[in-house]
Parts: sequence; C-alpha cells; structure tokens
Amino acid sequence: LERTFIAIKPDGVQRGLISEIMSRFERKGFKLVAIKITVPSKDFAQKHYHDLKTRAFFDVLCDVFSSGPVIAMVWEGEGVIKYGRKLIGATDPQKSEPGTIRGDLAVVVGRNIIHGSDGPETAKDEINLWFKPEELVNYSSNAEKWLYGVN
Ligand code: GTP
Ligand code: MG
Repeated sequence: LERTFIAIKPDGVQRGLISEIMSRFERKGFKLVAIKITVPSKDFAQKHYHDLKTRAFFDVLCDVFSSGPVIAMVWEGEGVIKYGRKLIGATDPQKSEPGTIRGDLAVVVGRNIIHGSDGPETAKDEINLWFKPEELVNYSSNAEKWLYGVN
C-alpha cells in the first residue's frame, strides 16, 4: 500500500491540534505506520523544503518550521498521497474548502499547520529524510478487511 509523509507544523502543535488532525486521517481509514515528535533544526528544515529554496518566503518558512516541536508521521493506505492532500486542503487557508484541515483550522498561508507530500517521489524522499527504515512499522489492522474488502 501507498505511504505518505505528513507533519503537523509547530503552529499546529502549539495550538493543540495534534489529535484533531490525526483523527481525520485515522477515521478516513488510513493507517499510522511511523510517528515522532521532534524540533527540526533550521538546516533540517531547509533540507525538507529544498524545492522552495529560490522562493522569497523560504527563509521565513524554514524559521517557522524549526521554531518548535513538529509531529512527523507516515500514513499508509490506498491513494493516501493524493487523498491526504485533499484532507489537508489548499496551501492558502483563505482558499482551502471548509471541511479540510486548513479550511477548518487555519487562517494564513504562513501558518497553515500541516505538511503533506505532494507526490510519490516526494513521499519516498521525505519518508527517507525523516525516518530510518526500522522506524516504519509493518502491521495489518483488523479494519483493513472492512475498509478494502477481501476476495
Ligand atoms: P506543504 O505541505 O507545507 O509543503 O505545503 P504545500 O505543498 O501546500 O505548499 P508548498 O509546498 O508550495 O509550500 C510550502 C509551504 O510554504 C506552505 O505550506 C506555506 O506554509 C509556505 N508558503 C507557500 N507559499 C507561501 C507564500 O506565498 N508566503 C508565505 N509566507 N508562505 C508560503
Ligand atoms: Mg509542498
């Protein structure tokens, strides 16, 4: 099954939204296979967001991202990369639909509380950046046969 990297940013953690955000992924039917709480260094933030290094907001983005604890997670499930982005909503919370995480819980683009991988390649790269292989837990959940059906 597909896997994606999801991070609750320092603003999401400080605002007490960890369980609110996690429950949306969990109730959808996605499976948590790795999780840690960590304060990323600025250097690490720059690695994580390296695609954006030419953007004007890059330095501020990396400052905010390294300003406090982040919840780093890997979620697994059919279509989780694309659908995870749907659950998260548009980058700018002013444009995110109600019902999405950013639409319901955030107001401005620089404080949009959550990150999600934007494609299969970035998902693989980000999971490798944040987790050692042995930190990913392979297990089957009882719900899977009800979520996906068997035979
Ligand atoms: P992530 O899931 O965090 O990667 O967001 P995204 O994929 O929806 O957007 P993108 O990768 O383009 O940008 C990464 C992050 O940079 C966003 O989540 C915002 O926090 C921040 N960002 C993007 N555009 C702007 C901007 O115009 N101004 C500011 N201040 N921040 C921005
Ligand atoms: Mg992005």
